[in-house]
Amino acid sequence: MDIKKVQTADEIDLADPAFWLRPPEEREGAFATLRAERPIPFFKERDIPDVPIPAGPGYWSLTRHADILEASRRADVYCSGRGATSIADLPAELNEFFGGLINMDDPRHGHQRRIVSRGFTPRALAKLEAGVERRADEIIDRVIERGECDFVNDIAAPLPLGIICDMMGIPESQQQMVFEKTNTILGLGDPEFVSGGENLIMAALGAGSELGALMNEMVDMRRKKPSDDLTSALLNADLEDGALNAEDFASFFVLLVVAGNETTRNAVSHGMKALCDYPDQRRKWVADFDALSSTAIEEIVRWASPVIHMRRTCTRDTTLGGQDMKEGDKVVLWYNSGNRDERVFEEPHRFDISRKPNEHIGFGGPGPHFCLGANLARREIRVLFDRILHRLPDLEITGPPDRLQSNFINGIKRMPCEFTPGKPGS
Ligand code: HEM
Repeated sequence: MDIKKVQTADEIDLADPAFWLRPPEEREGAFATLRAERPIPFFKERDIPDVPIPAGPGYWSLTRHADILEASRRADVYCSGRGATSIADLPAELNEFFGGLINMDDPRHGHQRRIVSRGFTPRALAKLEAGVERRADEIIDRVIERGECDFVNDIAAPLPLGIICDMMGIPESQQQMVFEKTNTILGLGDPEFVSGGENLIMAALGAGSELGALMNEMVDMRRKKPSDDLTSALLNADLEDGALNAEDFASFFVLLVVAGNETTRNAVSHGMKALCDYPDQRRKWVADFDALSSTAIEEIVRWASPVIHMRRTCTRDTTLGGQDMKEGDKVVLWYNSGNRDERVFEEPHRFDISRKPNEHIGFGGPGPHFCLGANLARREIRVLFDRILHRLPDLEITGPPDRLQSNFINGIKRMPCEFTPGKPGS
């Protein structure tokens, strides 16, 4: 990608919604300017239209890889549990649904994370493996005769959601509802996903409570009739760390669908676009799929940076990257920028499926909140690309991606594609 530096450091304002409407080349150019000239700028927060949360004071913006690593590692100084990990502090009722694990600090965080980690052990993931493969084949079977489809909604989206629902034991018939509610919660900044004028917080709360109600039904069912899914495992009170209570359960489920669904979907969509934009890289991967898969997947996650930022809050006065900060100050970790840092990545704007080393921070920096689903996501991305590249070998993206308007999720809403039709099961 050729980046464009159209703004000076003084003109760049990441808190301006208009910034996030700029084309990717210009945004990348702006982050490159900040990394070089003003690596930890402070931006004043603005009121968000339709959102009755008063604008906060503003936030420090970490744009360099090393500073993001430092803040991720030192969770005692840069905490997740004050206000939220979103830039705006969330009102308590919202935090209950959307907070969960990701907005907690130790000791509560460590305790809950140990419990839910049971769903992500190598053994638990191995059990999901057959489902990942079966679902990936079904996805291709559903589109292969058509010769064209919407890459995002027909190919990239169904797999991660289906797998999370499988993990929790949610029936197929409820999965469309889960998909729509997740879109409402995560697409908050984008007018398309909440009808005009509707109060954004009410929309998100409504979606969250419907997902929570579904989870409560699941818990009731599994109490009566245990199964081998994660819901049953988390309910098992005999284990050393105890079990989750009903509220924790609902918010863990909301976190799981929110954290595991859009992220993986967008990694796959951006990955496909990149493989079409860099046909040499695609040929290389197809020629030696197994050998190159592990580096290719890391590069796809670096390239996509599906989560653009997370926020922390200073627990005391401190200095980071030479910048003094006060207790209570907000600090935003711009993963997208860290993933293009020239100090760490050679030619960061080149998509290179054999990039090594690749110390990307797409799954967050090293620290207690590092993505719990990283290995599951890697698995899903690998299996899906295996099926796409081998079963739809000439698939091309035929129109520009329709991007989500968001400073949080690097989303693609729709992206048309075409391929030579084939037969299901082939
Ligand atoms: C390509 C796909 C994915 C990306 C890019 C991604 C990215 C992230 C990031 C950036 C964080 C925050 C790290 C921090 O605050 O330091 C995170 C946390 C988390 N992710 Fe993922 N994620 C992905 C897939 C998944 C999947 C598939 C699941 C589960 C099904 C999942 C579950 C979680 C959970 C539970 C947390 C919170 C961990 C904690 O606070 O202790 N993620 N992820």
